[in-house]
Amino acid sequence: MSQPRLFSGMQPTHDSLHLGNYLGAQVNWVRMQDEFDAFFCVVDQHALTVAPDPAELRRRTRVTAAQYLAGGVDPERSTVFVQSHVPEHAQLAWILDCITGFGEAARMTQFKDKSGKRGQEGTNVGLFAYPMLMAADILLYDTAAVPVGDDQRQHLELARNLAQRFNARYGDTFVVPEAHIPSETARIMSLAEPTAKMSKSADNQAGNLMMLDEPKVNTKKVKSAVTDTDNAVRFDPDAKPGIANLLRIHAALSGDSIDTLVERYAGENRYGALKTDVAELVVAVQQPFKQRVDELLADPGELDAILARGADRAREVAAPTLAKAYDAVGF
Ligand code: ADP
Ligand code: NA
Repeated sequence: MSQPRLFSGMQPTHDSLHLGNYLGAQVNWVRMQDEFDAFFCVVDQHALTVAPDPAELRRRTRVTAAQYLAGGVDPERSTVFVQSHVPEHAQLAWILDCITGFGEAARMTQFKDKSGKRGQEGTNVGLFAYPMLMAADILLYDTAAVPVGDDQRQHLELARNLAQRFNARYGDTFVVPEAHIPSETARIMSLAEPTAKMSKSADNQAGNLMMLDEPKVNTKKVKSAVTDTDNAVRFDPDAKPGIANLLRIHAALSGDSIDTLVERYAGENRYGALKTDVAELVVAVQQPFKQRVDELLADPGELDAILARGADRAREVAAPTLAKAYDAVGF
């Protein structure tokens, strides 16, 4: 029996994922690839909305794909590909643009935030059309499940509305996708400012544990993580966000429960011991991850072959969906 489809992607806007991306997204992807026919896309066309330097975009696209693989996505079981290699994404996006209201798109909070910061002169139309391209990414694959962060909930809702609207107007064509939002406990916070999430776009990058940094850099960041002065290890995210974050990271990486850990580090002056252990756990996942990425980047032939196979497999699914949509609208 065929498995339900899953689609997810990341923008190649940075050279390294952080631990939040790894624990919040990648670990989930790897788990879900058993139950789903999974499509993992490097969405380089979305990244073009921020006008990256061409050489940088090309490099980051490859590094991002290499990180999917290093994190445990298995290209034999899942489809790993680059969005721009599959022209059906842009083709379907145009059709979806034509059934989206201007006001509806203008209400997307991410667009309002980004265009508000850049002003009209600094805002390109691609940024405005981003959610419709994202809807195309999802709908092309008859996707049942989309693992997305909370911040993408509104875009996913738009994709669902567009699928339903298209189906009502032109006849049944698209599967209406469901969001898979990871639980709040999966959220990793900044080590420098533990009330804000670890994020590539955070102002203070000192709080991000980057998967491709040297282990000693991450060890140092863990050891200087912001905590509090009461010196007792308890899990209290409101009063003790720094310690709660370290406990979450430890639990996610070691598999031990938070309760077990609180017991282990009970007593006075145990913050140092907790930090030492968290640093070791981080390095233990991050070092082989980085090594695998380095290997993949050193052998461009292998990576290119995986991405070419991925694009072929993606087109096998995307082309018939686009053909149905073309036929339905009268092309
Ligand atoms: P960023 O905020 O760093 O730009 P993205 O928005 O590109 O991250 O998110 C990519 C994926 O990583 C999404 O699935 C998102 O839910 C997940 N993610 C991002 N930051 C975190 C975090 N701090 N903790 C857990 N998951 C995260
Ligand atoms: Na699968």
